[in-house]
Amino acid sequence: MHRHIIPSALVLLLTALVCDVSAQHGHTGFCGDCHTMHNSQDGQPMRFDSAAQPLPQLLRGDCVSCHMGLNSSTNLAATTSKIGRRSVVRGMQASSPGPRVMSESPPTYIWGDSAGRSGGTLAGGNFYWVAINDAFGHNVTTIPGVPPDGRLGNTPPGGPPLSSSLRCAGTNGCHGNTMIEDQLLSLEKAHHSNVQGTVDGVTVGGSYRFLLGVKGVEDPDWEWTVSDQDHNHYAGEVRTVETNLPSQATMSGFCARCHGDFHNASSGKTSAGEGGPSGFASPWIRHPNDYDMSAREEYSAYAGYDVRAPVARASAVMTTGSDGAAGANQRIIMCLTCHRAHGSPNNAMLRWNYRGWPGPGGQDGCQLCHTTKF
Ligand code: HEC
Ligand code: HEC
Ligand code: HEC
Ligand code: HEC
Ligand code: HEC
Repeated sequence: MHRHIIPSALVLLLTALVCDVSAQHGHTGFCGDCHTMHNSQDGQPMRFDSAAQPLPQLLRGDCVSCHMGLNSSTNLAATTSKIGRRSVVRGMQASSPGPRVMSESPPTYIWGDSAGRSGGTLAGGNFYWVAINDAFGHNVTTIPGVPPDGRLGNTPPGGPPLSSSLRCAGTNGCHGNTMIEDQLLSLEKAHHSNVQGTVDGVTVGGSYRFLLGVKGVEDPDWEWTVSDQDHNHYAGEVRTVETNLPSQATMSGFCARCHGDFHNASSGKTSAGEGGPSGFASPWIRHPNDYDMSAREEYSAYAGYDVRAPVARASAVMTTGSDGAAGANQRIIMCLTCHRAHGSPNNAMLRWNYRGWPGPGGQDGCQLCHTTKF
């Protein structure tokens, strides 16, 4: 293999970028693992899928080509390896492209799993099951093998239709700056400025999992291993009314961008929101979210953070107490208390097999909080 002769101006630019990158919390690696200068080497395309069309940002693949495959401790270990002060991601050639969200073979899914087992899923679940059943996840059609949703089309229940089918990122997607249509461009600079740990939501790289605006604390291995002491901290809001616009900073507010009626009544529709005739209180008309669970009566038995039905924290107490604590303003119900964001082997991409309960193999996460309902 010959090397390209890189013009000196580009060398300067690349050097500047390397320095810039190393000064931040982001990753770097061999640029050529992920980028190609001309999408050509010995006259052949350099894209991972061998397509001739070059991609924006000189990339060798789109989102899914890097985020496809099975997770293992080896490929996830990449985030922890260091050269000097820099975190290094070795990139595709060393088969360590980071977190994998789409597998082509069945991933291991165990409700509340804490083992980090080969073939296992991360916090978001996996898109694998959506290709089998529409109801098992978000039909992100930019993933090969995932068709549009046959029942729901492009319409999120509780919200208006999108202008195209769901994508990973951009205007019709979830990650990145949703004011930008193109999925790769909507993430511009994110991978090279990925803040780990506590994120403030100001930039894409500094937002919870590149969801612009969302705050939280990121688990370094994306919950490859997970326990009450080892998990993401989700942001929630303690609401007493539901007529305000959904907060961009919370996980449930983020879901409400598309599924608004399931979260708040700010649309002015009488059928929207969660609160019933007595306002944002029992009796409810939809399950509450961005609502701090009382620690009394049946709910007192949810005594600490439970990864089987996780709860969110308000910003002011995001890092107060232990990871396992679920004190006041840290017991906030959110969409991800019951759902996975990408997909799961269960109906409505639920964390547990709700429809199977109480049959064999069925599971009931509802009882972790509703401890007196049998
Ligand atoms: C060239 C390979 C590549 C491409 C293309 C790529 N990613 Fe990534 N992505 C990675 C790697 C490697 C990491 C791990 C980065 C780290 O640990 O800092 C990552 C991390 C992430 C994360 C986790 C961020 C966090 O907070 O830990 C998200 C979310 C993500 N990518 C989304 C996307 C989306 C959406 C696209 C397409 C618009 C995309 N990626 C395109 C390689 C890629
Ligand atoms: C960019 C818009 C968008 C956002 C943000 C969004 N969704 Fe969706 N969601 C959709 C669309 C479109 C559908 C219907 C098509 C499909 O299932 O993919 C859908 C479907 C669903 C379904 C039903 C799946 C099925 O096929 O029956 C659930 C459950 C769901 N979303 C939960 C969530 C949760 C939880 C969040 C936040 C973590 C979220 N959504 C954020 C657009 C969105
Ligand atoms: C592990 C994969 C990976 C490696 C290694 C990598 N990049 Fe990137 N880079 C990406 C992804 C993905 C994007 C596009 C999305 C984004 O910006 O988050 C990107 C975007 C860029 C951009 C345009 C957006 C920005 O951040 O300014 C530049 C320039 C860039 N990379 C330069 C480099 C250089 C120089 C190197 C080597 C020091 C390098 N990259 C190594 C994955 C990688
Ligand atoms: C993380 C804890 C938690 C989980 C898990 C949970 N709930 Fe709830 N649920 C609550 C809280 C807290 C309330 C509101 C109680 C109040 O009025 O303060 C509530 C309210 C309700 C209500 C309305 C009661 C009323 O007074 O109007 C129903 C019905 C309900 N939940 C059913 C379910 C079902 C079914 C599941 C499983 C799919 C579930 N819940 C899972 C905590 C939870
Ligand atoms: C207490 C648990 C719980 C919480 C919290 C919760 N959901 Fe659900 N959700 C469910 C269950 C259970 C179903 C499936 C009902 C069924 O199978 O009949 C469902 C179904 C859905 C559907 C599919 C509706 C359809 O028409 O097919 C969407 C979309 C959805 N949820 C979005 C959300 C969003 C957005 C949030 C946060 C604002 C949220 N959910 C919070 C338990 C929950």
